[in-house]
Amino acid sequence: MSDILVTGCAGFIGSHLCENLLKQGLKVAGLDNLDPYYSTEWKENNLKVLKKQSNFNFIKGSILDSNLLKDIIKDVEIVYHLAALPGVRNSIKTPVKYCETDVLGTIKLLDVSRNMDVKKFAFASSSSVYGEVPENELPVSEDRKPNPISPYGLAKTQGEEWCKMFEEVYGLKTVSLRYFTVFGPRQRPDEAFSKFIMRIMKDEEIEIYGDGNQTRDFTYISDIVNGTLLACEKGNGIYNIGSNKRISVNEMVDLIEKIMNKKAQIKYIEKQLGDVTHTWSKIDKAKRDLGYGPKVSIEEGIKRHVEWFKMNKFK
Ligand SMILES: NC(=O)c1ccc[n+]([C@@H]2O[C@H](COP(=O)([O-])OP(=O)(O)OC[C@H]3O[C@@H](n4cnc5c(N)ncnc54)[C@H](O)[C@@H]3O)[C@@H](O)[C@H]2O)c1
Repeated sequence: MSDILVTGCAGFIGSHLCENLLKQGLKVAGLDNLDPYYSTEWKENNLKVLKKQSNFNFIKGSILDSNLLKDIIKDVEIVYHLAALPGVRNSIKTPVKYCETDVLGTIKLLDVSRNMDVKKFAFASSSSVYGEVPENELPVSEDRKPNPISPYGLAKTQGEEWCKMFEEVYGLKTVSLRYFTVFGPRQRPDEAFSKFIMRIMKDEEIEIYGDGNQTRDFTYISDIVNGTLLACEKGNGIYNIGSNKRISVNEMVDLIEKIMNKKAQIKYIEKQLGDVTHTWSKIDKAKRDLGYGPKVSIEEGIKRHVEWFKMNKFK
């Protein structure tokens, strides 16, 4: 019997969330199908630290398998739903897969949860729901109407809507977290920080999309985990979980170079379909309702991320 289910437990954010919950002494069931979107070896590495804990139960399987979900959720009080096909750019190539996993998978999980004794359902949404926000309307708050520009962003928007529906119709308590670009140790290998650090280490060229003046609200992983825990405990509805600070991709590369004490070989290539120009969160609601506040600066976060790469050798 487990107190908590974390879907996507072998992933970047899911593995950190599990680690935190296990440290609190809670019994955690982790569900993940080790989807090949990126290296399974990388995910197995994420799981290593969790599998050492006696209060962790790893289940290899899919959120699309309702019978499996019924079996797992019958004993669970809280569901943290992080499993998804991530990645805006990839979603442009395979929209149907994103709809299946990120929308239908979420509905199946909600449906089993409402029939069992689940007290709270937390859903990992994304800043991608906002789409392009004009410069003069940033930072963005939860009141802004979603306007996604990728299948991934649309799937997250729909996931939030389904959470709201299950709350209104069936009384299942839900909360949706709009994460802003998350970084830190174990970040997915397809994301900018990981790609850039790995390539600079190996003296390989890095590719910057567009002119590099696009900005991102980069949020450190432990702040994301804290925001998620607080929201699940006290929140209802939708929350931005971000750093409330933004830097350009060029500034980000400058910081990585400074911290690694190494020059990057940069190649600028065309802007990618689905990529928004700017992200920048307003976090007043999370501050007020949850007592959330980001604690780790971008410089400190990059130092920890680089250190992690030095300790973990990847091909
Ligand atoms: N990393 C970010 O910057 C970011 C930003 C906004 C939102 N999010 C959301 O947060 C969540 C976690 O993101 P992440 O960066 O850790 O991604 P990740 O890919 O590292 O983790 C997701 C995990 O879900 C698993 N998964 C995929 N399909 C599954 C299925 N059908 N059944 C069971 N497991 C399945 C994958 O194997 C993977 O381990 C996702 O929902 C993502 O959309 C992430």
